[in-house]
Amino acid sequence: MIEHKKLRNGFEYIEVENSSAKAKIALQGAHIFEYVKKDEESFLWLSEISDFEHGKSIRGGIPICWPWFGMNSNKSLPQHGFARVFMWEFMDGYEIDENSTSITMKLTHNEETLKMWQHKFELELHVVVSDKLIVELKTTNIDDKEFEITQALHTYFAVSHISHVNIKGLNKKPYLDALTWKKELQKGDITFNEEVDRVYQEVDKQVLLLDKSRTISIENEGSSSVVVWNPWIDKCKRMSAMKDNDYKNMLCIESANAFDDARVIKPNEVHTLKSTYNCLL
Ligand code: BG6
Repeated sequence: MIEHKKLRNGFEYIEVENSSAKAKIALQGAHIFEYVKKDEESFLWLSEISDFEHGKSIRGGIPICWPWFGMNSNKSLPQHGFARVFMWEFMDGYEIDENSTSITMKLTHNEETLKMWQHKFELELHVVVSDKLIVELKTTNIDDKEFEITQALHTYFAVSHISHVNIKGLNKKPYLDALTWKKELQKGDITFNEEVDRVYQEVDKQVLLLDKSRTISIENEGSSSVVVWNPWIDKCKRMSAMKDNDYKNMLCIESANAFDDARVIKPNEVHTLKSTYNCLL
């Protein structure tokens, strides 16, 4: 089943359901804000007080940060780019088989994007909803000059409690600590007992998020950087659309092309950032 739905305020999304899973993808930002496997709890976190309003990014799910990750050097431009708050076009949706559904959405440059970023582009999101969630973000340069992008699939994961989780796969990897702007080296698994905001570099394909009773595998292609973020106590209180204690039950692991992993795309070239999320119970 693939249905085009609207909330009462007109906020549009695509709802998908097959025998393995169901998902909801907003047209604003091509934002996956729900993905649940049959008979399992959702591993995507969504804030109970998130806005579903035009011009505001949904807090949770998978925001798309594009064409820049983090702050732009021009501070008047929005953090994490504009793709997450623009309306995308629903291009195609079909059932591959009874267990998997394919959805494609597209954003192309327009008068508004050209005011913020002077490049002509096509950005496509391909999603496969099945017993795994596969997300592919494809950037095509349709301009006559090259451009550089930084980007991320800013995935919010639901966790039983932040003190119960650890992240494997980033041991001995260098990272940029976005709280101090120092370069550090990861020692062992990542655990959380304070604010964490780091851009890991030179990462391998797979990162594992281990929680009390489940493990999520995140496999990345077209990326060698991963952002790990938890706002902890003080920042959580200052975050929009988050409740004070939300930091206890969420964290972000973001498949990225950030900082040293920025990508230059020449005219007619395509760059694909792909993540496969798989819950291994
Ligand atoms: C993370 C950044 O990717 O996104 C954090 O590393 C930031 O510094 C967080 O606070 C949330 O950003 P936003 O723009 O969605 O509030």
